[in-house]
Amino acid sequence: MTLAHRPAVLVARAVYPEVLDRLRQHFEVHANQEDSVFTRDELIARLQGMDGVFTTGSERMDEAVLAACPKLRICANMGVGYNNFDVAAMSARGVLGTNAPDVLTETTADFGFALLMATARRVAESEHFLRRGEWNSWRFDMFCGAEVHGSTLGVLGMGRIGQAIARRGAHGFGMQVIYHNRSRLDAATEASCKASYVSKGDLLARADHLVLVLPYTPAAHHSIGAAELAQMKPTATLVNIARGGIVDDAALAQALRERRIAAAGLDVFEGEPAVHPDLLTVPNVVLTPHIASATHGTRLAMANLAADNLIGYLTRGQALTPVNLDTLVPAARG
Ligand code: DGY
Repeated sequence: MTLAHRPAVLVARAVYPEVLDRLRQHFEVHANQEDSVFTRDELIARLQGMDGVFTTGSERMDEAVLAACPKLRICANMGVGYNNFDVAAMSARGVLGTNAPDVLTETTADFGFALLMATARRVAESEHFLRRGEWNSWRFDMFCGAEVHGSTLGVLGMGRIGQAIARRGAHGFGMQVIYHNRSRLDAATEASCKASYVSKGDLLARADHLVLVLPYTPAAHHSIGAAELAQMKPTATLVNIARGGIVDDAALAQALRERRIAAAGLDVFEGEPAVHPDLLTVPNVVLTPHIASATHGTRLAMANLAADNLIGYLTRGQALTPVNLDTLVPAARG
């Protein structure tokens, strides 16, 4: 392919240089290695003339953006979640969306468990105490937390990552695993995770540690709010590695302050990177900046999968992990 006929691709955020090099073998690449987060207008301006875009959760690909970028054929997300895509608008306009599943499953489950452990055993709270110079002597009940081994692990959203967390809990920590999901898993998968299906109400009432791993959809908005928190045990902990908006962060901050649940671990936030100010002032919460998949190996694999999707689709018409192939209107772009 000569340079003049190469498709043009915008890489909307900074990425590993070797991934850019791979893309440059196929495309005219417009990179953003300075890593500015584009406003909607900047994104539209940068997307003019582009055939494809490499996105992260920061770029909202909605109807207005798509309408203003008629040449665009594919949005390849470096993430398993793609709530930054308006999938219906993309399909109607003949724009393929792709995500980056599987390559992050185990790494993200590791982090979910790390956050569960840190939350249950008060790792952040006690470290802050030590750093403030308040540690004067050992005390029998200092920072006593919740038991993890042998306790009941609840998983809300039992996809690949939920199952990987369940396996860790059941096989590594002897936890009794209960889960709730839109649909019940087959018996073999339940057996491999040693997990039992329960209603959402039972999950809330019985879990000692509840981990949220469901994808964000409008229907999942505030799946955990004041009413759900009220159904949890006062000794329970809550971990959100799914998406901001699944938890009502204001209601959670209030429940934590009033000790209506024991503690929470949050990697994702409503309106992130902003964090609800009340969460910053309650002690019994561990806060991390959306890093559940953040190891270099996994982030490189995610970026390479997004690149593979761009290369496959724009050079051969085939993407590895499309999210809207079934609903795509191919003629819409002309
Ligand atoms: C994902 O893959 O969805 C992670 O949350 C990173 O955005």
